[in-house]
This record gives sequence, C-alpha cells and structure tokens, in this order.
Amino acid sequence: MALRTIREYGDEILTKPCKQVKLMTPMLSMLIDDMFETMYESGGVGLAAPQVGSLKRVCVIDVTGEDPYVFINPEIIETDGEQEGYEGCLSLPGKSGIVKRPAHVKVRALDRKMQPFELEADDLFARAICHETDHLDGKMYVDLVEGELVNNEDLELESEAGSESE
Ligand code: NI
Repeated sequence: MALRTIREYGDEILTKPCKQVKLMTPMLSMLIDDMFETMYESGGVGLAAPQVGSLKRVCVIDVTGEDPYVFINPEIIETDGEQEGYEGCLSLPGKSGIVKRPAHVKVRALDRKMQPFELEADDLFARAICHETDHLDGKMYVDLVEGELVNNEDLELESEAGSESE
C-alpha cells in the first residue's frame, strides 16, 4: 500500500464526473487499498477516487475507524429526514461548513468483489455517503454550505459534535 497525494479544492479533477467501474482489476484493488491508507493517515472518515486523481466511481468510508466500506458505482436510492451539521473535506484541509443532509440514506453499490449490496445508514455515515457520492459527480460540499466556511481551529467545542473530514 502507498499513500497518495490528495488533490485540493481548485484542482479541476474534483469538478469532473467519474466513470462507472465495469471490472475489478489489480490496479483498482491497489487504488482502493491506497485510498484507505491515505484516508486513515489524514484522519478522514471518507475518501473518493477523484480526490487521489482517479476518475472512477469508487469511494471508501469508515466513520468509526473499525468499519471500512468500499462503494463501487454507488447510488443513493432512498433518503429520509434531515440533519444539519459541520462538514469538512480532506481536499479542503482545516475548513468546515454547515451542510444539510438527509438523516437516513439507502445506498446500492458493488463491493470490491463486484457483488451488489444495499445498505442503510444514519447520521455521520449517511452524511459521508452523500458527501462521497457527490465527489463522484464532480461536486464539493462547499457549494452546499450555508453561511461561511470556518477554520476548524475556530470551531473549538463545536468540533466535538462533528466536522469530520471526508
Ligand atoms: Ni470530500
């Protein structure tokens, strides 16, 4: 495994829609391993392939540090409720902003064996799924932020409640 360079906000690749994955290959498997390593090293809870320079519909999420998920060609098929909270992104380090997301999502995707699965998620996991699937469509959370982006160091106590980077 190897760390990959995280592309930062302003890099054109983060604005491009990603391509569907048709086949698992050794290269793609290595990309997924590297994405996990890069995400954990950066202290994030999610990472999408374009953030490391690959325009493939692949993202990884682990909101607890012990529950790694790979989503290939993810599709959000149901949403319910609403949550509002600080959200951050590894492509915009040190910043957060308030974003409204569904409280609950149901997602359909392929796992790394290219087997289809469905999963329901709440709270931070639901937020991360929305955030990462947006990346695969070339969208960043900054366009959804209500109010101003803030510096994480100014969040102080509030950072306890959220502001995970994805
Ligand atoms: Ni992000």
